[in-house]
Amino acid sequence: MPPSLPQPVTAKLTQAAIFLVVTLKPGAQVDAAVKGLCADLSSLLRGVGFRNAESRLSCIMGFGSDAWDRLFGQPRPAELHPFREIRGVHHAVSTPGDLLFHIRAMQMGYCFEMARAIMDRIGDDVAVVDEVHGFQYFDERDLLGFVDGAENPVDAAASAAAIVGDEDATFAGGSYVITQKYLHDLRKWEAMTVEYQEGVIGRHKLSDIEFEDSAKQTYAHNVLTNIVENGEQLQIVRANMPFGEFGRGEFGTYFIGYARSPKRTEKMLDNMFVGVPPGNYDRLLDVSTAVTGNLFFVPTATFLDDVAE
Ligand code: HEM
Repeated sequence: MPPSLPQPVTAKLTQAAIFLVVTLKPGAQVDAAVKGLCADLSSLLRGVGFRNAESRLSCIMGFGSDAWDRLFGQPRPAELHPFREIRGVHHAVSTPGDLLFHIRAMQMGYCFEMARAIMDRIGDDVAVVDEVHGFQYFDERDLLGFVDGAENPVDAAASAAAIVGDEDATFAGGSYVITQKYLHDLRKWEAMTVEYQEGVIGRHKLSDIEFEDSAKQTYAHNVLTNIVENGEQLQIVRANMPFGEFGRGEFGTYFIGYARSPKRTEKMLDNMFVGVPPGNYDRLLDVSTAVTGNLFFVPTATFLDDVAE
């Protein structure tokens, strides 16, 4: 058998993305429609994206724990479970979500067209519970003004961080993805001094240069999300995007982190929301509220191609 091809979870950052989270309506016809989409997803992607390789269109499809059981049953990915809420100094909520579509391209038009192709197929079978249209903000900054993504692993290190290996042979090549939509209180953030903000992130704002370890606050974001086990740093691959709507007064960061085990990301979240030691939490959360929380498994592209209706 040829090796299974992962979905493009380690793709480089693009200028636009759509994050679509849906729940499945009841009924056998719904399952059939979704399975049909799984098998045809790569074909839809070629149809929308092939005409312009520079669009770098990609689409990742992920499945929540309940949806996996409903659609595919056994065998199931070893570490797939519903997103675990955290009640620490701040609250990481767990919200409904059966399917994730993470659509990326250099122009929003391609993302939109791919989302339309997907919804043409399953729009009547699902309810959209969250939809975020993200954009690149200047030199990869979040709306808090800091460059986001600089310490992401790349190339082989990205695959090692994000792609399941021999630890779960049946699902090797897959990935676990945690998503959270954060809303920022920009007025509150902008009222803080740049010096304080830099302490919260652990980097210089304008230059993006990381603080030396000795200069970092114990609660800095890049201290609390630095997970080391047996001397090895356990990394994840992030593809966060800013979004905003003036009419709704909503401005935020869509957090999306791929990992070969959800434990890594869950540990980072515990550190951020509960704190290390407990109480020494991530000050980003004083100005950023997580309004969604989901965990999905991303099977290989080969798995999707082979799904039978
Ligand atoms: C409001 C939401 C968030 C914002 C605005 C944000 C922003 C940032 C920024 C500006 C950096 C520094 C530059 C970089 O290396 O990317 C960073 C680093 C990082 N963030 Fe976040 N982040 C958010 C949520 C999260 C969450 C929920 C996690 C994990 C569960 C996370 C994990 C990380 C990791 C692992 C790093 C790299 C740390 C290092 O090794 O230096 N972030 N984030």
